[in-house]
Amino acid sequence: METWGLVVAGGSGARFGRPKQFEPLGDRRVVDWAVDSLTSACAGVVVVVPADMVDAIDVPAATLVVAGGADRSASVRAGLATLGPDATHVLVHDAARPLASTDLVATVIAALADGAPGVVPVVPVTDSLRSVDGRSVDRDGFVAVQTPQGFDLATLRTAHARGASASDDATLLDELGVQVRHVSGEATNFKVTQPHDLAVARAVLDAG
Ligand code: CTP
Ligand code: MG
Repeated sequence: METWGLVVAGGSGARFGRPKQFEPLGDRRVVDWAVDSLTSACAGVVVVVPADMVDAIDVPAATLVVAGGADRSASVRAGLATLGPDATHVLVHDAARPLASTDLVATVIAALADGAPGVVPVVPVTDSLRSVDGRSVDRDGFVAVQTPQGFDLATLRTAHARGASASDDATLLDELGVQVRHVSGEATNFKVTQPHDLAVARAVLDAG
């Protein structure tokens, strides 16, 4: 088993107002935290950045920095294309999630080692849910999905082969009919989406 990390940092941060993955957080940038959570568990970490920034961005802890695509799935494919023949598994992680613990990373890898073709950290939904057409929805039937998501590399490549787009990779395995395994995610592993989320991340770090 040779597991690689793939950190997708190719977004523009429209809801945040700028590419949030390069904002400072403590003594590093958001993206550096995401890479650091993977490095010790992985053979290497590939970081995918916006194509127009690839010559300007340095990620010291990364094995390789490559240009991303027009949406998240295209950026994942750009990273997958760089992985060599010895790689057997991959952890795909949002650069915008700086606070995943190394315990969570180890849990995802353990499930892969146990034979799961896809592994997804999930957390309970805490708000009540309604459908946009005005019906109530049973919250207990749903979970919220995080990264790092772990995959058997050949399976993930097959899932991406049609060039489909989705907001995460587990969705593409669903479309193949491959069962993904859920593991417990972490409340602090939220995605920085709006400026408020970065303030929360800073407060979490300050609280130690
Ligand atoms: N991402 C990427 N390539 C893209 C779009 C997104 O690598 N073309 C990455 C983002 O950098 C982020 C992760 O996918 O780490 C999750 O995406 P999201 O939170 O939606 O980030 P953005 O797309 O940058 O934000 P927004 O949707 O508000 O524009
Ligand atoms: Mg987006």
